Amino acid sequence: MCGIVGYTGKNLAVPYLIDGLSKLEYRGYDSAGVAVMENGRISVTKKSGRLSVLEKELAKHEQSTATVGIGHTRWATHGRPSDENAHPHLSENCLFAVVHNGIIENYAALKEQLESEGIHFSSQTDTEVISQLLEKNYDGSFLSSVQKTLPMLEGAYALAVLCRDEPDTVICAKKASPLVLGKSEEGIFAASDVTAVLKHTRDVYKLSDGETAVCRGASLSFYSADGKPVQKSCEHITWSAEDAQKGGYDHFMLKEIFEQPAAFAATVNQHITGGKLSFENLPLSKDEIGKLDRIVITACGSAYHTGIVGKYIFESLTRIPTEVDIASEFRYRDPILTENTLVIIISQSGETADTLAALRLAKEKGARVLSIVNVVGSTIANESDGVIYTAAGPEIAVATTKAYSTQLAVLYLLCGHFAFERGLMDADGLSRYLLELQSIPKKINEVLEANRERAKELAKLFVPLDHAYYIGRGLDFAAATEGSLKMKEISYIHSEAYAAGELKHGTISLVEKGTLIVALACHEPLFAKTMSNIREVVSRGARILAVTTDRHKDEMKDFDFVLTVPETLLPFCASLEVVVLQLLAYYASLYRGCDIDKPRNLAKSVTVE
Ligand code: AGP
Repeated sequence: MCGIVGYTGKNLAVPYLIDGLSKLEYRGYDSAGVAVMENGRISVTKKSGRLSVLEKELAKHEQSTATVGIGHTRWATHGRPSDENAHPHLSENCLFAVVHNGIIENYAALKEQLESEGIHFSSQTDTEVISQLLEKNYDGSFLSSVQKTLPMLEGAYALAVLCRDEPDTVICAKKASPLVLGKSEEGIFAASDVTAVLKHTRDVYKLSDGETAVCRGASLSFYSADGKPVQKSCEHITWSAEDAQKGGYDHFMLKEIFEQPAAFAATVNQHITGGKLSFENLPLSKDEIGKLDRIVITACGSAYHTGIVGKYIFESLTRIPTEVDIASEFRYRDPILTENTLVIIISQSGETADTLAALRLAKEKGARVLSIVNVVGSTIANESDGVIYTAAGPEIAVATTKAYSTQLAVLYLLCGHFAFERGLMDADGLSRYLLELQSIPKKINEVLEANRERAKELAKLFVPLDHAYYIGRGLDFAAATEGSLKMKEISYIHSEAYAAGELKHGTISLVEKGTLIVALACHEPLFAKTMSNIREVVSRGARILAVTTDRHKDEMKDFDFVLTVPETLLPFCASLEVVVLQLLAYYASLYRGCDIDKPRNLAKSVTVE
């Protein structure tokens, strides 16, 4: 996810571009840049790092007098954060400059074709193919060059483009990525969302997929995908800028909970083409995968909880002994690792100190290190032998949700790949596995739609509590660990996740009349066993909030509260039940008046020991 801005009008462009980008940094912030029309040419300034680095760079030069320009703040997906990979991207002869939010899925083929025609690229980004194509398709008309180029692009884009030959114009286009155009007497303000334009106008036009907008001075004209002029109605926005950043949700956490289907799909689909699974830079050949004698997954917090799922699914599907370890323990355990050990490092930020230390220790001991990271070009990503990026986009809430879900998505992909490469899953089995995996986003949506209101109601049960308990077996236990942490970290209620079969060895002494227990029963082969454990605590007076699959709803009708999720392949069940637990924690925190997006004592990335 990135942020783009554009301006045409009578005012200086750069102040608007920078102010607009500052409102869009929540969409990505690893690099930023602007391009303006000045003295008959396109002048580009772009820098790796936060927007403030770009501002410092601009301050070194005389203030621009340009009144037309575009700008970008980046969340890297293709090509690590660097000055070269920052947007805007120029065409080879500096005829066009482009800023882009989205992913051009066919960029590799387009780039190969353009390079074969002798066109030179200066970045590793997918976006640069757009500026090069615009120049290649240029026939003297800016608009027709854009209209020729757009149909060649597969994937998602929100674009703002400059053309040296038409210095008073910005052309915008969109497909699947958001783009709005604010209009006032001062000019036209293009942006990824209204956050960046509300300061200047509340009258906006929203481009529909395939449409193009030509901005010139304070005038706007629109064209359909087939190039015909269209009339569009203006919307008057009543939201505050902060509401707009949250997309209308009350908190980033709730927005990110609801972004999970899209984030999961984006993560999975970057590795599945035509039903076939592929990884760009897996540091293991088929032969090496065959020789693996152990997998160690190490991480912190929620990332560690995905490792508990990982242990279960790797051992059951690939038969590779797998252990999961908290990174702050692993790093001091003097672990026994060999060249046939794969250490999987999981981290949203890619900067967690304990996890980074665990990575360095694993490399010192000769293990192969693969990381699963959300931030492109982060320290953990750069120091790993190989990295698989989650496509969660920037996660703003301290309590992770969509990053957790996309980490699971990558573990599922890896597990299927290893099982296939080790001959434990045949081609048919793998395609069925991948088909179900690609249905998870839809099922997460179903969980959200079916359970949001009920979870909002049941979350009231937690408000007066000092303690909450989560129990489950197998993958249910894995989901319970994450559900318990969510509740703890944002509602400040002490909670613990307990293996249901272990209760009788001590913890059950805490159960008394009215004790609220969240019982997870989605791990199908263990359902009966879990039911016995639930009955054990009910007989001691516990109230049960059960989460199970639709199939078992009736069997649980005697329990106090039952929430259900769709069935899925066993390895994926935690991805569905955890969404219910996220909602319970969110609403419990809301009712308790806690700071949901920035809980006390916590930081989004713990870069100290
Ligand atoms: C999760 O909600 C917490 N914010 C925390 O446990 C987090 O998962 C942990 O600090 C690891 O962070 P990382 O994924 O960025 O390494």
